[in-house]
Amino acid sequence: MDLNGKNVIYEGGFGGIGQHCLKEFLARGVKNLVIFDLQENASILQNLRTSYPEANIFFVQFDITDKNSITEAFKHAVEKIGHFDVLVNGCGMMDDTKVDLMIDINLMGLIHSTLTALPYMNKSTGGRGGLIVNISSVAGLEPTAVVAVYSAAKHGVTAFTRAMANPHFFEHFGISFITICPGITETGLVAHPHEKATFKFAEALAARLDTAERQSPEVCAQNLVELTTSGKNGGVYMLDLGEVKEITFPTVWAPVFKS
Ligand SMILES: NC(=O)c1ccc[n+]([C@@H]2O[C@H](COP(=O)([O-])OP(=O)(O)OC[C@H]3O[C@@H](n4cnc5c(N)ncnc54)[C@H](O)[C@@H]3O)[C@@H](O)[C@H]2O)c1
Repeated sequence: MDLNGKNVIYEGGFGGIGQHCLKEFLARGVKNLVIFDLQENASILQNLRTSYPEANIFFVQFDITDKNSITEAFKHAVEKIGHFDVLVNGCGMMDDTKVDLMIDINLMGLIHSTLTALPYMNKSTGGRGGLIVNISSVAGLEPTAVVAVYSAAKHGVTAFTRAMANPHFFEHFGISFITICPGITETGLVAHPHEKATFKFAEALAARLDTAERQSPEVCAQNLVELTTSGKNGGVYMLDLGEVKEITFPTVWAPVFKS
């Protein structure tokens, strides 16, 4: 998709990866940008408005763990910008000591957001279609034992997004889905990993993650936004250490029909 003149909603836009994606979207000529997040970051907002005066940039407060808050946020966004072409589900949290919150933010919230966005974008009911980008993780590709709950939530994101890219759904909604799986990226999310492990006795394994190579959020954001222009429906992309790799999955099961 050519992003010039398009309308984008970015959830979790003030986060470490999100704030760099906002700049990338604006640098590519996005016309209306709505940032959904838990809290406003006035200085990021001001900097963006100063750097990209030709774009309209709005903030809408929301809590992705609250379904009503998601519904209201989309209502407000559409009141401001009329329609949106791209939705990025980029909220996240990693702390396996908080099991329910892990699932609520990383998986349930993302599913509710996606399902809330569909009627606005749905081509078969007068919408314009578009693209939904769901941020999973390398922990949504490989079981990641130190944060087993986070890994489960992110596997859910990968599976949900791949399922939503079904050609039958695409024909109906006119919406493409891509899954982005960043590797370890230098943001607050991965700070103090030993405090975030599923089990206290495995803290040392988590602390070891701190010694792993990581990429900058800037390079992750550049690759993510590039994929919104070049990614294909159903594509699952690993963005690790500055490289992009499309991930393919074997078909290990298919239904056997009676006739
Ligand atoms: N940093 C990494 O190493 C890494 C690796 C793989 C995947 N990811 C994923 O990338 C995405 C962005 O992560 P990040 O590293 O920028 O993290 P971050 O902590 O810097 O940003 C997360 C964003 O989510 C928002 N958020 C959290 N809880 C929320 C809630 N209840 N309601 C609304 N917003 C909420 C935060 O306010 C923040 O803006 C997440 O989905 C994360 O899981 C990150």
